Amino acid sequence: THKIIIDTDPGQDDAVAILLALASPELEVLGITAVAGNVPLALTEKNARKICELAGKPQTRVFAGAVRPLMRPLVTAEHVHGRTGLDGPDLPEPSMKLEPQHGVDFIVETLMREPEGTVTLCPLGPLTNIALAMIREPAIVSRIAKIVLMGGGYFEQGNVTPSAEFNIYVDPHAADIVFSSGAPIVMMPLDVTHKALTTQSRIDAFRSMGTKVGTATAQLLDFFERYDEEKYGTDGGPLHDPCVIAYLIKPELFSGRQCNVAIETISELTMGATVIDWWGIVTDRPKNALVMLDIDHDGFFALLTERLGRL
Ligand code: BDR
Ligand code: CA
Repeated sequence: THKIIIDTDPGQDDAVAILLALASPELEVLGITAVAGNVPLALTEKNARKICELAGKPQTRVFAGAVRPLMRPLVTAEHVHGRTGLDGPDLPEPSMKLEPQHGVDFIVETLMREPEGTVTLCPLGPLTNIALAMIREPAIVSRIAKIVLMGGGYFEQGNVTPSAEFNIYVDPHAADIVFSSGAPIVMMPLDVTHKALTTQSRIDAFRSMGTKVGTATAQLLDFFERYDEEKYGTDGGPLHDPCVIAYLIKPELFSGRQCNVAIETISELTMGATVIDWWGIVTDRPKNALVMLDIDHDGFFALLTERLGRL
């Protein structure tokens, strides 16, 4: 089993990722740290707790992390996720408590306590908490098993600007710190996640489970897909963040290549771009990330449906 910390800004697709993790016996979720991103922190930490309760796992530890990016003002995405960040289902206010410890301290303490190389970080939002943890205690870097994150793009460069993906764009300075840390990174870019599309029949499969989780998932995804269907003209919406969790359970669903990834932090025009040396010949910068490019999307949805059916 993998011990993981999920760092997240729920977000409908974050919510599905959390459900997938909580449903999977291969993964032990040590804690969930919330970050400001899709919506402000007060909402993301509450949404994380709502999802743990929906999953029937109120004992999961949820921590609040950073309220804003390191340098830049917070940019949110209510136009995609709705006012609450989790529009769609009508989930009850959570009764489980937020942990009193700061999310960044939880990340540091956990990595320093657990045996070296046993804890995987799963960032599903801006990388603020992860960067802050690395600054707070640089000794964590060599103790991280790996960082599997959703962010960036190669051919599909951007969804918030022409050249940047939301998670990297919101906190490019944090992304720069993480990508240049030396910790092993697996990156799920838009190139992969835009192939993991909810279609009506895939959403119906969740709905027809006839469970609370199945119904809520269908409602989350019905709401979520309308943005992409309208803007991109795709059949369905991209399940970005669940790709991170699926990779830990079934890495064979994905394929990619070890590359150097650098982050643009200066130009306003291309702020947050992931500059990828795909061929490995145009720079001598070190290969710091396994950049995924492809996904077996039928296999991915089969896994997701089977696992959510367990909750
Ligand atoms: C990423 O941005 C957020 O809106 C999603 O939750 C995902 O993590 C996709 O660009
Ligand atoms: Ca997210």
